[in-house]
Amino acid sequence: MKAILCHRYGPPDTLELGDIPEPVAGPGEVVAKVEAVGLNFFDTLIIAGKYQTKPPFPFSPGGEFSGVVESVGAGVTEFAPGDRVMGYTNYNAARERTAVPVDNIVKIAAGLDFDRAAALTIIYGTAYHALVHRAQLRPHETLAVLGASGGVGLATVELGHLMGARVIACASTDDKLAFARAHGADEVVNYEREDLRDAFKRLGGEHGIDVVFDPVGGPYSEPALRSLAWQGRHLVVGFAAGEIPKLPLNLVLLKGCAVLGVFWGQWVRRDTAAYKAAIEQLAKWCADGKLSCHIQHVYPLAETPQALKALADRKVMGKLLLRP
Ligand SMILES: NC(=O)c1ccc[n+]([C@@H]2O[C@H](COP(=O)([O-])OP(=O)(O)OC[C@H]3O[C@@H](n4cnc5c(N)ncnc54)[C@H](OP(=O)(O)O)[C@@H]3O)[C@@H](O)[C@H]2O)c1
Repeated sequence: MKAILCHRYGPPDTLELGDIPEPVAGPGEVVAKVEAVGLNFFDTLIIAGKYQTKPPFPFSPGGEFSGVVESVGAGVTEFAPGDRVMGYTNYNAARERTAVPVDNIVKIAAGLDFDRAAALTIIYGTAYHALVHRAQLRPHETLAVLGASGGVGLATVELGHLMGARVIACASTDDKLAFARAHGADEVVNYEREDLRDAFKRLGGEHGIDVVFDPVGGPYSEPALRSLAWQGRHLVVGFAAGEIPKLPLNLVLLKGCAVLGVFWGQWVRRDTAAYKAAIEQLAKWCADGKLSCHIQHVYPLAETPQALKALADRKVMGKLLLRP
């Protein structure tokens, strides 16, 4: 079967389309025919050897997918051939068939297509874990989202809006901000043009910002932390800007605030039942049109390098998919 393969660490151009043997479902696994693969920023890191997970070579990128179960391994009772499924693989989804543990997948909600099902698990799952479990976001609180037009950013804008927050979307271009506004943002900040601290003073007033969702890092984290309200929460999600910022702890003391780590990958492993319940709820909201799961473009497997370059070059609004 066809797979896009990483034989050595490097930029997207080093990936090669190749043939590999068909997978066999091990105990507790299913083999699914892959209908669509959701790409994420971490796919650009995993192929470069810059991600915390380092799979053995050759591996395929692609951490999430939708598909149809073709066979089940020993002990699998909750899935059968023909079931439409979605979920995460961490890597190895960008191939025609993939073997995946049953803990990682759920059946696709009625009314949800394969494309959105492939793109939903990681971004909305992360937004949900961040806002519901970590920040415990309340209605009418002010939520500022950095990188608001990207995968996790847009998911958080939409989920924050759905939870009744006042959402401030922050991004680098006016097109991205218009896109975030169309997806539920109440206010927008172009952080390439306006100083983030000034913008948050303007929009947060005396009270400040209750919750910051930060998947970008770099130069934006410290001004965002400085803008928090008393007992605000700063959600540390990722470092798409490349630099891991160091934050002055006196700010945390003075504001009585919390800097909260968000690690979707650990949460889903440590609390599988909660992960499955959350994904089923998010998929239903998506099927009902409450969440968009916006797909910018679908690429064939052979064009995986172009797709990953677009992500690395900051050109994506919403999600990119591969179709094996
Ligand atoms: N902690 C977790 O569990 C978890 C889960 C999922 C993702 N993440 C992390 O969250 C981050 C975003 O992931 P994603 O899949 O949503 O990525 P994405 O769709 O590519 O979005 C990233 C956003 O970051 C901004 N950005 C700023 N500087 C950038 C740069 N130098 N290169 C690329 N983007 C830059 C871009 O918006 P502007 O151009 O508007 O600035 C872009 O829209 C990544 O670091 C990822 O590893 C963490």
